[in-house]
Amino acid sequence: MSELEANARAIVAPGKGILAADESTPTIKKRFDSIQAESTEDNRRAYREMLFTAKGAEEFISGVILFDETIRQSTADGTPFPALLAGKGILPGIKVDTGAKALAGAEGEKVTEGLDGLRDRIAEYHGLGARFAKWRAVITIGDGIPSDTCLDVNVHALARYAALCIEGGLVPIVEPEVLMDGRHTIDRCFEVTERTLRRLFDALYAQQVPLTATILKPNMVLAGSECRQQADVQTVAEQTLRCLRNAVPAELPGIVFLSGGQPDELATAHLNEMNRLGGGPWELSFSYGRALQAAPLKAWAGKAENVAAAQKAYLHRARCNGAARNGSYTSEIERAAA
Ligand code: 13P
Repeated sequence: MSELEANARAIVAPGKGILAADESTPTIKKRFDSIQAESTEDNRRAYREMLFTAKGAEEFISGVILFDETIRQSTADGTPFPALLAGKGILPGIKVDTGAKALAGAEGEKVTEGLDGLRDRIAEYHGLGARFAKWRAVITIGDGIPSDTCLDVNVHALARYAALCIEGGLVPIVEPEVLMDGRHTIDRCFEVTERTLRRLFDALYAQQVPLTATILKPNMVLAGSECRQQADVQTVAEQTLRCLRNAVPAELPGIVFLSGGQPDELATAHLNEMNRLGGGPWELSFSYGRALQAAPLKAWAGKAENVAAAQKAYLHRARCNGAARNGSYTSEIERAAA
């Protein structure tokens, strides 16, 4: 097995998943605003240090996705974050896209940028210790959208990014996120997600990206957040599995879901139910941002004296999601919190 394939499998090792801590500077500012903390470089560093030094997280966390600023930062006592994580057996990852921008000629749709100079940036990030990368495309459901154009340009960019990652020694995580925003039904989300994934795997095939070294980070199949008819946990799990079976090749080692704004416990329950039902050829895991960080962010509240409480809250969510990796998450585990 190649090193890339081994790393791809390590990312989806049993019982473990990814902490997405790659919020861009504007996004982390929004998170800090919610706890009335100032988004200074040192506060961002202190917050990430709180997460990355949580003892025992490595039992449930296989990889952490970092942002450009974060991969260059260190703990207060001078250990670079990538070295700190690697020392615990956690793979450092890096967000390499430069964000979703308005797509010209396509009202309400976006295309993700960041291909210019990417080969050199990948080489630099590999030198800084990164072993995997992430690129997020954003697909919006609305009247008459997504358009074919939006899907085509986004999957083409995802495949170009993935091919460059493979060349540069990083496992590519390909993330085509169909947003939850809107009034659409779960059936409409199913249809758009399937259409997106089929096109994505066509583009990866056309650009000769080896799927055995690639990880997919999709949305779950859910009703829009403003849809009056929300599906229950079992329906979400069944529809998501059915959609993935229709569109995702079996040779892919694993699928790591984004949480996308779902409440923490629901994101855990959905993953748990999918693993309980099983039947797919891939590992089904998590790469959660908000669903792992909302609780510790609130507990931390920007204050050094809250670090221990925040780490406890983070470890609890990590443990619950670790249990969801094999369908053993229960309300007892959830309540055994703090
Ligand atoms: P959420 O789990 O908060 O959606 O974040 C995951 C992520 O990395 C989105 O790109």
